[in-house]
Amino acid sequence: ANTRTPLMAGNWKMNLDHHQATHTVQKLAWTLKDAKHDYSTVEVAVLPPFTDLRSVQTLVDADKLDVKYGAQDVSAHLEGAYTGEISATMLAKLGVTYVAIGHSERREYHAETDALLNEKILAAVGQGLAPVLCVGEGLDVRKAGEQIPHTIAQLQGALAGIPATQLENLVVAYEPVWAIGTGEVATPEDAQEVCGAIRGALGDLYDGELADATRVLYGGSVKSSNVAAIMSQPDVDGALVGGASLDPEEFAKIVRYQA
Ligand code: G3P
Repeated sequence: ANTRTPLMAGNWKMNLDHHQATHTVQKLAWTLKDAKHDYSTVEVAVLPPFTDLRSVQTLVDADKLDVKYGAQDVSAHLEGAYTGEISATMLAKLGVTYVAIGHSERREYHAETDALLNEKILAAVGQGLAPVLCVGEGLDVRKAGEQIPHTIAQLQGALAGIPATQLENLVVAYEPVWAIGTGEVATPEDAQEVCGAIRGALGDLYDGELADATRVLYGGSVKSSNVAAIMSQPDVDGALVGGASLDPEEFAKIVRYQA
């Protein structure tokens, strides 16, 4: 048995306005309260768009909710003439816990490279934010059977030169691109294979202590109906949930996968 607390994180992507955002968080918190959810057994986070973060913060503070929140991206720079960017400093001031870095949609539509992600991780950890580094292969790579070397190369590239002392709060999310928003969830064995390889690589790059402490999430078409099977795998420590996290009752069921 390991000591990692499972994390269920809802990545809202570019959805929900601030009314819907507060409603969704409220409904999620109420549903979990009704179910007497113990947040120390499964941690819960939402990743709203930047424009909703302040509303979510206000609600979480006012109602003293145990739901954590994070951002979907962060600038590699801390301040200055970077029009359109949001810094880790700004996020830290909003009480943000997590920040997704290198989501496949950002790699694909914004040409984010491993070198850039490396800078973003450094910016995030420097401000005390926990990076959720997203890695995972596309369909061609999967068909060629190259998912492990591909995913591990992304991991190594993003973490290059960053010492273990800065990665105490690192979370890695394995999101096979072919399973994102497609309804085609990876099998529990597929998820375990790569999540286990990620943990192994963290052990090689750093040490067993860091590998043991780091949560490795699975993401890609997670729903309440398939989450328990995925969570039964030894190296899967939670899920990064897209579409299903927009429905607070469905997301609460995902959080309550053990119930
Ligand atoms: O980051 C979560 C994600 O990319 C998975 O999306 O909609 O397949 O759960 P979805």
